[in-house]
Amino acid sequence: TEDHFRNVISHAKEYGYVVQSSEIYDGLSAVYDYAQNGAELKRNIREYWWQAMVQLHENIVGIDAAIFMHPTTWKASGHVDAFNDPLIDNKDSKKRYRADVLIEDHVAKIEAKVEKEVAKAARRFGEAFDREQFVSTNPRVLGYLEESQRILRRMARSLEKEDLADVKALIEELGITCPVSGSRNWTEVKQFNLMFGTRLGATAESSMELYLRPETAQGIFVNFLNVQKSGRMKIPFGIAQVGKAFRNEIVARQFIFRMREFEQMEMQFFIRPGEQKKWYEYWKEARMKWHLSLGMGAGQYRFHDHEKLAHYADAAADIEFRFPFGFKELEGIHSRTDFDLSNHEKYSGKKLQYFDPDLNEHYVPYVVETSIGLDRMFLAVFSHALQEETLEDGSTRTVLRIPAVLAPVKAAILPLVKKDGLPELAHEIFSELKWEFNVQYDEKDAVGRRYRRQDAAGTPFCITVDHQSLEDRTVTLRSRDSMEQQRVPIADLTASIHREVAP
Ligand code: GAP
Repeated sequence: TEDHFRNVISHAKEYGYVVQSSEIYDGLSAVYDYAQNGAELKRNIREYWWQAMVQLHENIVGIDAAIFMHPTTWKASGHVDAFNDPLIDNKDSKKRYRADVLIEDHVAKIEAKVEKEVAKAARRFGEAFDREQFVSTNPRVLGYLEESQRILRRMARSLEKEDLADVKALIEELGITCPVSGSRNWTEVKQFNLMFGTRLGATAESSMELYLRPETAQGIFVNFLNVQKSGRMKIPFGIAQVGKAFRNEIVARQFIFRMREFEQMEMQFFIRPGEQKKWYEYWKEARMKWHLSLGMGAGQYRFHDHEKLAHYADAAADIEFRFPFGFKELEGIHSRTDFDLSNHEKYSGKKLQYFDPDLNEHYVPYVVETSIGLDRMFLAVFSHALQEETLEDGSTRTVLRIPAVLAPVKAAILPLVKKDGLPELAHEIFSELKWEFNVQYDEKDAVGRRYRRQDAAGTPFCITVDHQSLEDRTVTLRSRDSMEQQRVPIADLTASIHREVAP
């Protein structure tokens, strides 16, 4: 809900996760900074992805390509000609919107009506309620679904044909109003390229017009043969990369969901032509498993198969996540055919072919890619983790249930009081554990308040040093999620925590 989303944004700032970029100058729209805890969470997500994709696969290697690339790259990739958003201005509010997003939001409202009918029927029929049957037979629901499908199909068709006049006509027919002014006074729809341009070199004559990369994928395609040869890779194999990408997005207050500077975690898998269906299905399933391994619950995810395909794809699906503002794209799995490699061959004049020793022939490999936004994954984890809980005694606590493997700080070490040698022992434990994972020392305020602070910051464990600790070298280990406490020998702390925070 909107309230939850507001809490997510303010909690992210209050607990050192995410802040507006250049905040003292009133910020920069759709650009954000990660503060001390955010940088750690981001690093842990990146690491969790890299381990699963690179370390655990014999046939996938990782690279780190430059953000600047030769400008012809973007002609070959199609981004100069086709990486556009259809924009429309409202003449009264002077606000600019993505025409496709306005239409999709309208469709989301129709789909919300379906959910309303479903909820109503579920209440009426109780246990006997069968969602699937209801949705496939109820005339009102069928009407809504048909209407939303019809709208989306028409939009996809018009965008495909570059029929921007029809996109505008659709907006008018649906009676879509400006979210700010409520007015229906729209301009024509225009295509707007999303790439940021800049210049390389100092003098006017010698400098070259460049783009900041809008996806990391192209750094992998242009290095395909270097990696294949130097690594003696055999098809099928993959190349993975994590890095910044830039898009001049037209956005409205979506926090880190849609940014102008963001990070992608991509893997391009090179395969034999003709095997793309098999590998596309394989990676859809493998990536969903990766998500489920974090334990946020299967109900948080769904697949969305694309009807409207990007300029490079022959099949595409999103893994959608239930964000505070509804199900939205988190990751894309795309069957890119030989589109990119063939075009790079054409534009560069260099052969980008693989000799397949089993088939005894040369070919341009096909590609299936998995592409996830690191920042978007961050938002998924963070917004799902933030919970307001009512305890048995009726009081409430704010808890950030970040999966332990991803938590920025794994344990906080708390001396019960600031005297009697307890801080010294706590520091001793800190000095030992810091070699294993991120830990924090905290002695300020009553211990109950410190527990609450760590709960809200997402720390999965608190280690409390008390007077008994001085006698028998045991401490209490408190779990963030269950709030249970157990007495543990100091010598066992590393192993006990490792069990919970290891991937
Ligand atoms: N190489 C394929 C590609 O770039 P995409 O669907 O345009 O495909 C892939 O982007 C993923 O990157 C998205 O699923 C999303 O998670 C992330 N992403 C894209 N644009 C973004 C933005 N403006 N801000 C944050 N994440 C973004």
